[in-house]
Amino acid sequence: MSSVSRAGSTSLLTAVGLACVLVSAAASSAQDDPGKAAFEKGGCVVCHGASGDGANGPALVPLGQNLEELTRIVRGGLGQMPPIPQSKASDADVAAIHDYLTRLGGPPAPRATSPASAGGIEDVNVRIDRARLDHDLAALAAAVESTTSALSQIAIAERTAHLAAAYATWEWVVQQPTPPPQSTKLVDQAIDHVERALQLNDRVADSHAFMAALCALRVTLGSSPAPTLAARLGSELAQATALAPDGPRVLLLAGVTAVLAPAAAGGLDAAERQLRRAQELLPEAATGFAWPAWTSADAAVWLGRARQQHGDKAGARKAYEEALRLRPRDRWIAQVLLPSVAR
Ligand code: HEC
Repeated sequence: MSSVSRAGSTSLLTAVGLACVLVSAAASSAQDDPGKAAFEKGGCVVCHGASGDGANGPALVPLGQNLEELTRIVRGGLGQMPPIPQSKASDADVAAIHDYLTRLGGPPAPRATSPASAGGIEDVNVRIDRARLDHDLAALAAAVESTTSALSQIAIAERTAHLAAAYATWEWVVQQPTPPPQSTKLVDQAIDHVERALQLNDRVADSHAFMAALCALRVTLGSSPAPTLAARLGSELAQATALAPDGPRVLLLAGVTAVLAPAAAGGLDAAERQLRRAQELLPEAATGFAWPAWTSADAAVWLGRARQQHGDKAGARKAYEEALRLRPRDRWIAQVLLPSVAR
């Protein structure tokens, strides 16, 4: 578990660090075609809309990322967004896209005000004060751009932090042989965390699906209005599916939800179908920005738990063995799950 929280806080720190890096003002270019062309060629339009104003994915205008951050998102993927390979968008294309989206967001900030080096928010404040005194409107415009961009980075970091907190609770409760009394309160807090993540961006299918799974976990702990949770769980699953009908993590979490709360989420057979499909589609190793980094090993674990609930020890063992093959270092699988279905 410590490695889980460490990984979460590292990415958080990275994101916050990036937020403090001042974004250099984009150079204005007369030709907007290369960027637009690259935006189309890269497939960004499909999810982000023809002029980056949002479709299945969020609006990208005004752009909240500097080139470095944009490149990391494009190469690493983010949540439901897959990594985009060089073959679809080269580094030059990404630079052109950055330029294009920046231009769509409004008049480019004058070069004179772009910061020479990275600095913190204090530097921004100093620059704003100076610009205010100098009646330097261009510098003020550039400051608006830098700070808006920083805020958007912080929003991503904040969302990641809420998801990380919820995920840590999730693992803590799920890995307990018998959930201790304080689980109820912790899961309620985790639900609040994901709620907050959804307020920051409600178009992320993974967050909706994770919310459904947390509601299902809450159902298993009892002493809460189960009908309310069941309704919530159903609507979160519906939203997740609408956003990413074949999303591997959505399939996984829908399956997990149905294993935990079969009555509310379509039964164990549906769960197994979703988990098998998820196992095929999920990567074997964690990739990129997606957090929590569910992999095919998780699908195998939950398939095992579904089999176990069916009373099929051999089937459960097979699934857990597969999970351990995919994730050899996992002690929960090795020391708890597998022994629980030993011959
Ligand atoms: C298959 C759909 C899809 C494609 C293709 C795609 N994206 Fe995304 N993108 C998304 C989704 C969904 C998110 C939101 C992910 C999240 O917040 O977890 C996202 C997020 C982003 C973000 C972060 C937005 C923010 O501030 O939260 C950027 C920047 C971005 N995409 C740029 C691009 C670019 C550039 C391309 C093309 C090279 C591209 N995307 C292609 C779906 C896609």
